[in-house]
Amino acid sequence: MPRPILIAPSVLPADFSRLGEECAALEQAGVDRIQWDVMDGVFVPNLTFGPDVIASIRPHVTVPFEAHLMVVNPDELLGRYVDAGCELIIVHAEACTHLHRTLGRCRELGAKAAVALNPATPAATIEHVLDLVDMVLVMTVNPGFGGQAYISTMESKITEIAALIREGDHDVDVEVDGGIGPSTIEGAARAGANVLVSGSALYKDPDGLAHAVADLRARAEAARQ
Ligand code: DX5
Repeated sequence: MPRPILIAPSVLPADFSRLGEECAALEQAGVDRIQWDVMDGVFVPNLTFGPDVIASIRPHVTVPFEAHLMVVNPDELLGRYVDAGCELIIVHAEACTHLHRTLGRCRELGAKAAVALNPATPAATIEHVLDLVDMVLVMTVNPGFGGQAYISTMESKITEIAALIREGDHDVDVEVDGGIGPSTIEGAARAGANVLVSGSALYKDPDGLAHAVADLRARAEAARQ
């Protein structure tokens, strides 16, 4: 049974002066959850959302939040983003000295846990933590900014990770993030991704967010037929 296709927008391209309204619009457009790209200016050369920003938005929308921690010290920040209302925490394998322990800590805090891999990081990195995660995020750009080009060579990694999950009979989603839009989503879904993060492509759709969400979902579903 294929895992459900989920559309998780990045709010990076949103109008930050109206962030609450923008998140409400994403919910109205039919997204399955919202991804917060948390950046510390060190792990990636950009700086974004603190936990208090997310906490201020939390009461205004009902869709689940996931925090994509692009930070050098995830262990110190896990609890802050759980308390801010993120039900799923994504940590980068590259930022964790003890990844197994960090993922277990996410769950101890009552959150779902996910591990992200940058483009150069091999799939084997997550081989021994699949029992500790609810999702694996395969970055299809080098993290730090929206609007970058999709790295299609990541599709073989997506397929490799999906096979590891299947072979171990793990209940784990495969998420992709970076350059996902109408011309790339089918390749990612066909490769094995079922959670699709999109930022700029959603906001660029001339027919609006609802059309963009429905179109991406339909393309991903069709790609798996
Ligand atoms: C990179 C960010 C982006 C963002 C999506 O660190 O994680 O991938 O979420 O950006 P787009 O969809 O514009 O590539």
